[in-house]
Amino acid sequence: MDPYKYRPSSAFNSPFMTTNSGAPIWNNNNSLTVGTRGPILLEDYHLVEKLANFDRERIPERVVHARGASAKGFFEVTHDITHLTCADFLRSPGVQTPVIVRFSTVIHERGSPETLRDPRGFAVKFYTREGNFDMVGNNFPVFFIRDGMKFPDMVHALKPNPKSHIQENWRILDFFSHHPESLHMFTFLFDDIGIPQDYRHMEGSGVNTYTLINKAGKVNYVKFHWKPTCGVKSLLEDEAVKIGGTNHSHATQDLYDSIAAGNYPEWKLFIQTMDPDIEDRFDFDPVDVTKTWPEDIIPLQPVGRLVLNKNIDNFFAENEQLAFCPSLVVPGVHYSDDKLLQTRIFSYSDTQRHRLGPNYLQLPANAPKTAHHNNHHEGFMNFMHRDEEVNYFPSRYDLTRHAETYPIPPVVLTGKRDKVCIAKENNFKQPGDRYRSFTPERQERFVKRWVDALSDPRLTHEIRSIWVSYWNQADKSLGQKLASRLNVRPMM
Ligand code: HEM
Repeated sequence: MDPYKYRPSSAFNSPFMTTNSGAPIWNNNNSLTVGTRGPILLEDYHLVEKLANFDRERIPERVVHARGASAKGFFEVTHDITHLTCADFLRSPGVQTPVIVRFSTVIHERGSPETLRDPRGFAVKFYTREGNFDMVGNNFPVFFIRDGMKFPDMVHALKPNPKSHIQENWRILDFFSHHPESLHMFTFLFDDIGIPQDYRHMEGSGVNTYTLINKAGKVNYVKFHWKPTCGVKSLLEDEAVKIGGTNHSHATQDLYDSIAAGNYPEWKLFIQTMDPDIEDRFDFDPVDVTKTWPEDIIPLQPVGRLVLNKNIDNFFAENEQLAFCPSLVVPGVHYSDDKLLQTRIFSYSDTQRHRLGPNYLQLPANAPKTAHHNNHHEGFMNFMHRDEEVNYFPSRYDLTRHAETYPIPPVVLTGKRDKVCIAKENNFKQPGDRYRSFTPERQERFVKRWVDALSDPRLTHEIRSIWVSYWNQADKSLGQKLASRLNVRPMM
């Protein structure tokens, strides 16, 4: 072993206990005292170091999606889509790329139950030969709001009351009563699939619209969808209460145990693509994240499969320190003008610099597996071994060059500066269509959940009427049912 290249790792464990600086510890049971009863001497460096490490064990939890479980595996291309993208990891059927995946709940703390009604995160990090591609999605294909400006307020309303630290419906329904664009998302959240049975039995979606670009520079909008091969299963309320009451980590355990038993979870990846030339033909805006694209007009196209066949070795290193970011794309994949995606592009790496430190991309789970190089250097906790003398660019002493260019969307952007909502809001059609697609029993459970939520005694008559009016605009019979059970008239 080259002593100067040594990095802390359990592969280099010594057979005896040592301090962090490697000095042997001859007694890990008793503090160093004056006599047998004490007091303790400050010079017991090992004791001080041990307590100081313990005192700093926790790092800030994620501001959202704090509760999660991760696993590793691979993504394999099954269908050729090189006519759509020049992404190297999608270059031909059979190509495999290592991945790490983190599933999560959204609102509650790191140790909260996994049986609550809440969206689930579905984040996949592809360690490609052209850098990491993070597909940071959810289990539902749409989102509550379409402009990231509203995200912090939205999260505040969904999180526990800052005074009581209890999540309360009156706060949630007050906030969203100002945002009818949330209706579509609520047809997922208040539906049976609002509590997935576990992480293996749920779908995933990239949610935002991205773009794919092929070698010739042709751009297509794209939406990503994961479908589990073992089917979608959910928990009804009484089942969730029972499971959550006995094991508040049931989904993490299910994932871990399945992989340990060799029953590897698998999802198929599908895409929907749309030529931007036809984006005006729809009654909705295709880059509006509150909308789905009708599958009968824009069919699902198979791309590949995701197999999780390896449990993580260490929860802290491969879950707490794991950092996903929607801005991490690879050549052949680009963003769209989706306003929510544009805000996400900023927010994730920003929070990670705070949560994990400025060199968080050097942490093993986050670092690319491909060779990489730039002149960003130093900063807190920088542990990259470097011995170059030229740390600037360009230089005649260091021949590091630019990479080959790759195509990015060639669209010409024009417009005057403004702060406005998109033109085609169309907030009620897709939620109504979705409600009407439910069986009568499923509709009844949906109605009951709304009646329960809107019965919160702190909700005003005005807020209840607004909600009934929203649902009435989505579907008349749904509006009428809610109006009669809540004894309110829709506010038009
Ligand atoms: C403007 C809107 C949004 C903002 C500002 C935002 C912000 C954040 C932040 C700050 C985190 C914590 C990241 C960390 O500490 O590592 C996070 C996590 C996450 N977000 Fe968002 N988010 C937004 C919308 C969305 C949407 C639409 C989705 C689904 C497509 C989503 C999916 C996730 C997932 C899956 C995680 C957890 C990643 C992990 O497992 O570490 N978020 N988000």
